[in-house]
Amino acid sequence: MRRGIIALAAAGLLAVTGLTACGGDDGDSGGTSSKKPKIGVILPDSKSSARWETADRKYLEEAFKAAGVDYDIQNAQNDKNAFQTIADQMLTSGVTALMIVNLDSGTGKAVLDKAKNQGVPTIDYDRLTLGGSASYYVSFDNVAVGKLQGEGLVKCLTDMKATKPVVAELNGSPTDNNATLFKEGYDSVLKPKYDSGDYVKGPDQAVPDWDNAQAGTIFEQMLTQKKDIKGVLAANDGLGNAVISVLKKNKLNGKVPVTGQDATPEGIQNILAGDQCMTVYKAVKKEADAASKLAIALATGKEPEAGLVNGKTNDTARDVPSVLLTPQAITKDNVKVVFDDGFLKPSEVCVGKYASLCTKAGIS
Ligand code: BGC
Repeated sequence: MRRGIIALAAAGLLAVTGLTACGGDDGDSGGTSSKKPKIGVILPDSKSSARWETADRKYLEEAFKAAGVDYDIQNAQNDKNAFQTIADQMLTSGVTALMIVNLDSGTGKAVLDKAKNQGVPTIDYDRLTLGGSASYYVSFDNVAVGKLQGEGLVKCLTDMKATKPVVAELNGSPTDNNATLFKEGYDSVLKPKYDSGDYVKGPDQAVPDWDNAQAGTIFEQMLTQKKDIKGVLAANDGLGNAVISVLKKNKLNGKVPVTGQDATPEGIQNILAGDQCMTVYKAVKKEADAASKLAIALATGKEPEAGLVNGKTNDTARDVPSVLLTPQAITKDNVKVVFDDGFLKPSEVCVGKYASLCTKAGIS
């Protein structure tokens, strides 16, 4: 029923904006072909993870420059009003495709709907906007990311021969659909352990806006209430580092395995030091390359190249054509991967006390 209504509404929009649907594809490519192609990108913030400014921006810029297409990449700095203002400015400036990493589904949807009404095709980059209207979604298999985190923690606890460990969970922002998917992934590994009595479920809390500082406060409270926490599922490297700082104060770092995500320089340093059990490497270059290929096709009124779109993701109201990539677990044993792939440079990680740790790990 709901789907039918949405389909009718979409058809209505197409009629009023005079767009033609191309071969049953719902990427509204027809309306923008006469304008000069220009791609707008709105990144979410620069504090919840190092990735947005150091990896995503860099790789997107490289791809747009290589294609010779005009672009404007801005960062909303976790401000939902700024997010809307940037989107309005981009639309007024005549972008012919818009890519967003939403701060939550509500404000994301407002932006996507506005773009759609103006005939501008859109991409949900990394984060899916629930009930939104993006033409495409480009991300990783985020449940798989969470599974790798859960499995990584189990491996570290097993290696440490932990018996009936109390496990704390520090989840990502409740407004980020990815955080929900990561949790689905790691809980699919941890819940059976809690149920069987192998592990004891400890505190389990979300960190608003992935705020790293708040994560420290939350974990400090967790540890005060439950002194025998023996493992921490932290949803990304920023949260993991906040946990590790608290563990250090309590002389528990290295004794309590902590997970992460994003293979940030800090996360890799924590892994080399033995304070972080694992991280998840998401090849952001591949994600940015896929998204920019799609954006360039949309911005120039073309169909995306065959084989690029490899799936569909339900956004609660419809299936969004998607590009979904595969994440990889990183531990001390295979930390070289992120350097060999060109994602990190030794100079970003192997400084100060980490220089000798890098040499030991074969990173030069
Ligand atoms: C991304 C993660 C990132 C987190 C915080 C998520 O949506 O997928 O890579 O660590 O947001 O920025």
